Amino acid sequence: MAEITTIILAAGKGVRMCSPLPKVLHPVCGRPMINYPLNVAKAIGSKKILVVTPPKNQESVVSHLKDFPFVKIVEQKKPLGTADAVKVCAPALNQEKGYVVILCGDTPLIKSETLKSFIARVKAVDATLGFVTTRVENPTGYGRVVRDAAEEVERIVEEKEATPAEKNIKEVNTGIYCVKSGWLFSVLKTLKPHPVTGEYYLTDIVEAAIEAGEKTVGFLSEDAEAFMGVNTPAHLALANEGMRDRIIGEWMAKGVSFLDPRHVYLESDVAIGAGTIIHPQVYLYGKTKIGKNCVIECGAILKNMIVGEGVHIKPYCVLEESRIENDAVVGPFARLRPGSHVGAQCRIGNFVELKKTKMGAGAKANHLSYLGDATIGAGTNIGCGTITCNYDGVKKHQTKIGKKVFVGSDVQFVAPVTIGDGAYIGAGSTITENVPAGSLGIARGRQVNKKNYVRNHRLHRKT
Ligand code: UD1
Ligand code: MG
Repeated sequence: MAEITTIILAAGKGVRMCSPLPKVLHPVCGRPMINYPLNVAKAIGSKKILVVTPPKNQESVVSHLKDFPFVKIVEQKKPLGTADAVKVCAPALNQEKGYVVILCGDTPLIKSETLKSFIARVKAVDATLGFVTTRVENPTGYGRVVRDAAEEVERIVEEKEATPAEKNIKEVNTGIYCVKSGWLFSVLKTLKPHPVTGEYYLTDIVEAAIEAGEKTVGFLSEDAEAFMGVNTPAHLALANEGMRDRIIGEWMAKGVSFLDPRHVYLESDVAIGAGTIIHPQVYLYGKTKIGKNCVIECGAILKNMIVGEGVHIKPYCVLEESRIENDAVVGPFARLRPGSHVGAQCRIGNFVELKKTKMGAGAKANHLSYLGDATIGAGTNIGCGTITCNYDGVKKHQTKIGKKVFVGSDVQFVAPVTIGDGAYIGAGSTITENVPAGSLGIARGRQVNKKNYVRNHRLHRKT
């Protein structure tokens, strides 16, 4: 079987994005959009993957690609057009035999199954050139596929050169090709720049193949969305929407329920266990992993979170880079800052903030607390309004609270401080010294009742 080398074009200026960020690095559901064609190139079994990038002055693309060690980077000195971008790959290909598959870095919704059937078709008929077309309602911006009276492909015409009649053609070029390597690099040398733009168009290889009598396949796929090219911020929004719908569909197929799938945002690297129910307006970012049979209620925002099984996250929680173990209940209105660990069956209630804090199994902090740089033992109860005073203005200090400790309401722990297992802390205490296990720590002004104070004072009042 002929081998496949894949070239991904990513050296365009992306001027229509009006952004300093190179177009192919704009995120689609949390991943730079070029990652999707890269993954597809891998999935089709490419023997080599080349990415054409701009020169070093836009080196963010190059540095992003360092995460993909299987990729060979080829620099296109000037963005002289898509044909030039392929031509500069010739030395790196070293007269490789077989087929070259060309993808664009700006088509993130591309699917490997479609690409595989396209390549299989090109190989089956031993075509010199195959390219994928699709039909769209609004073809603006795409190259139009011109066919003759017998419906055979004649050529591709770009928007800028198209006549009004050609502009009405709804069959468009997706920018995906599969071409015999030897023929491709010889024909690229013969292409001329287009007078309107001064660019070399890869689309011209189609007409060249047909004129030379080479076997050419125009592979029509009706799945237009999968080939949408992102050229503007509006396209980017559509690509994000399409990808999000696809990801949510995949999770639903695996047993995750979404009460209102259109109003949930989630990214490509998120994972969710079967039986979990996601309410509307939930945002799942980054590498968040949620176990089975959880409930994530309205307005919860989770970023790079690890959540166990049977966890209930109540509305409007903001949870970041932390871990929640099985059967814990968090929220409403709770905040986990990075480095926190909520043990199994813990309860974190409203207006409770944790930062780099570990709560042992079954511990509770139900209301209005700040717990930072603390370890809290299993079964401990943190009363309403508790604060760990972790910062002395220069350094952060630890608060260590043992197991089954009962902390009354409105307590401040002035760190560093350690509370032994089973201790009691009186409400309203400012704890500055360690409390041994099993002891009561109480640190507040003793109450004084002044008998008949009111009556005595009234005696002196005129009114
Ligand atoms: C291109 C096709 C068009 C097709 C559309 C599909 C051409 C001339 N036109 O148009 O027929 O319908 O894709 O999305 O090929 N690039 C380089 N170097 C360059 C120019 C571009 O690497 O000098 C890269 C871009 O980064 C991008 C890809 O090639 O990833 C396509 O370029 P773009 O400018 O987006 O072409 P379109 O106008 O979308
Ligand atoms: Mg494009």
